[in-house]
Amino acid sequence: MSKIDPNTFANLDDITTEHLHLDLKVDFEKQRLVGTVLLTLKTLAEEVKQVVLDTNHLIISGVYSGENSEKSLEYHLDEEDATFGRALRISLPSSVSANQQVKILVKYETTKDCGALQWLEPSQTVGKKHPYLFTQCQAIHARSLTPCQDSPSVKITYSANIDTPAPLRALMSALRLNEEPETVGESRVYKFEQKTTMPSYLIALVVGELEGREIGPRSTVWSEPDMIEKCAWEFADTEEFIKTGEELLTPYEWGRYDLLVLPASFPYGGMENPCLTFVTPTLLAGDRSLVDVVAHEITHSWMGNLVTTKNWESFWLNEGWTMFIERKIIGRIHGEHTRQFSAQMGIKDLQADIDLFGCKDPLTCLCPRLQGVDPDDAFSSVPYEKGFNLLYYLEQHLGGPSVFEPYMKAYVKYFSGKSLTTDEWKDFLYEYMEKTHGKEKIDLLNKVDWTGWLYTPGMPPVQNQFDQSLTQACIDLAQKWDEHRDQLFEASPKDIENFTPDQKVFFLEEVLQVKPMPHSSLEAMDKAYSLTKVQNAEIRFKWQMVCLKAEYQPIYTDVVKFLTEQGRMKYTRPLYRALYKCPSGSQLARDTYTKHKNFYHPICGRLIEKDLELTN
Ligand code: BES
Ligand code: ZN
Repeated sequence: MSKIDPNTFANLDDITTEHLHLDLKVDFEKQRLVGTVLLTLKTLAEEVKQVVLDTNHLIISGVYSGENSEKSLEYHLDEEDATFGRALRISLPSSVSANQQVKILVKYETTKDCGALQWLEPSQTVGKKHPYLFTQCQAIHARSLTPCQDSPSVKITYSANIDTPAPLRALMSALRLNEEPETVGESRVYKFEQKTTMPSYLIALVVGELEGREIGPRSTVWSEPDMIEKCAWEFADTEEFIKTGEELLTPYEWGRYDLLVLPASFPYGGMENPCLTFVTPTLLAGDRSLVDVVAHEITHSWMGNLVTTKNWESFWLNEGWTMFIERKIIGRIHGEHTRQFSAQMGIKDLQADIDLFGCKDPLTCLCPRLQGVDPDDAFSSVPYEKGFNLLYYLEQHLGGPSVFEPYMKAYVKYFSGKSLTTDEWKDFLYEYMEKTHGKEKIDLLNKVDWTGWLYTPGMPPVQNQFDQSLTQACIDLAQKWDEHRDQLFEASPKDIENFTPDQKVFFLEEVLQVKPMPHSSLEAMDKAYSLTKVQNAEIRFKWQMVCLKAEYQPIYTDVVKFLTEQGRMKYTRPLYRALYKCPSGSQLARDTYTKHKNFYHPICGRLIEKDLELTN
């Protein structure tokens, strides 16, 4: 394994990838991609004899040197590692000196076990007429889409030709080179090009019956035809988010910012695939109340996609920075009090995950060690919220936005197109502050408890103070319910009529933190606030969690319904775990999962199976 990235087999010190070109045919009948990848590499070391690529569950049928399949190269696939896959060791015909270009063509096909791909039957789509395919490569699944140096330390450009059956359309995390497919005989080819360098985890492909609607000067929203109007309405704020991001950082570099609304099994809220963010349909609340996820993914256009973590141990550089800028965007558009509110919601998420992992678990460090660890297993709100809190604290500590905001810009400019570690981040912070403000700021930086923030498990070493103007009412109402457990008070819809959807979520989160509610309270709460009926996914989720904590059986049917109509891990994993924890619910949890296993994305399925102790 490489020194700069413990989660890849690639010999990154010897050779690096510059460009990756895919030529793939999408075969829905056999549910596989078949074709080639052409890698343009550059040697870094002297006497490079071998190129090691990452693969996972791919069938390799030939490796060649150059652009066509004339000169065969010898290769060997190592034994499979259950987490990291199989190293593909390619022998170069003769040893190559430093700074030389090497082109390698690999013929391959994907298999049923490729974690990056979800193949949907027509019945799993909204339209029910056509099959659908989408990929999810972050963190280390690109190696199951194509052989590559699957490490975020490597920044590449890419291009692709995707042969797609009619009447389906292909889209990728790149600029589209043709509006209509190029047809030659039977084949219909969509062509793509990504000219800005990016890490392999941002390669993305979708194929399905897709329709597009323009929602801004550089944005189109794509979805299945039946939901396109709803999508166009929900995400109308997109351009305003991009502009605010540009004000805070640098001009948007990727040309287009399109959105793709996926089928319900998409395992994340959003994924920042360049030029084409992927989002879950659970954002379609009908009132634009969940679009901060879009502000988040837009922010990754700078934090993560331009300035990238070098390995998954510094994942917080992507997500912590993104939370920080996302909240600045929301603050500028909707007011500082909403930013303060969102930060407090974040503290709740952080506390919940630290409780789940255990406050001594090394994975709750901002920079965890990931040698031998699957980044999917390490995933939590820690890099997001501990990362946010570190940056929020630094901003205050160093003199506020007038000092910190120019630093943010300088940081993006300096590391744009590069990958970095936490140490390099910290070095730049010191250098910038010294150069721009002098020794006084260095004294401040030296007072920061770096070990506490970066390398100590549990909650952050400093508790930031946030403005409670939007949270207080939620806290008060939750307290009232907590205090009136035995004698119920006169609850009324008026209690929450002025709450925003977010405040309802916060209220429910507060209720979730006290001891389980008596069933009489839950019944009264539902009667007054009609919570079981709510369609907003965030509220529905929190309400179901409140009910499951109390083993309130009347909610089970609705929990099963929610668990089987969408596969976003943020909801499905905690709900399955909570249902499984109820003595009267564990069998139902396992039966529901087993019956609907095929609905879930492979990444999600694997984690639910762990949560339900169906596998190790
Ligand atoms: N990049 C992440 C999603 C991700 C992380 C995928 C790690 C695979 C591995 C994306 O930007 C994200 O953070 N999504 C959040 C949304 C959010 C507003 C915090 C999600 O999916 O909930
Ligand atoms: Zn993110």
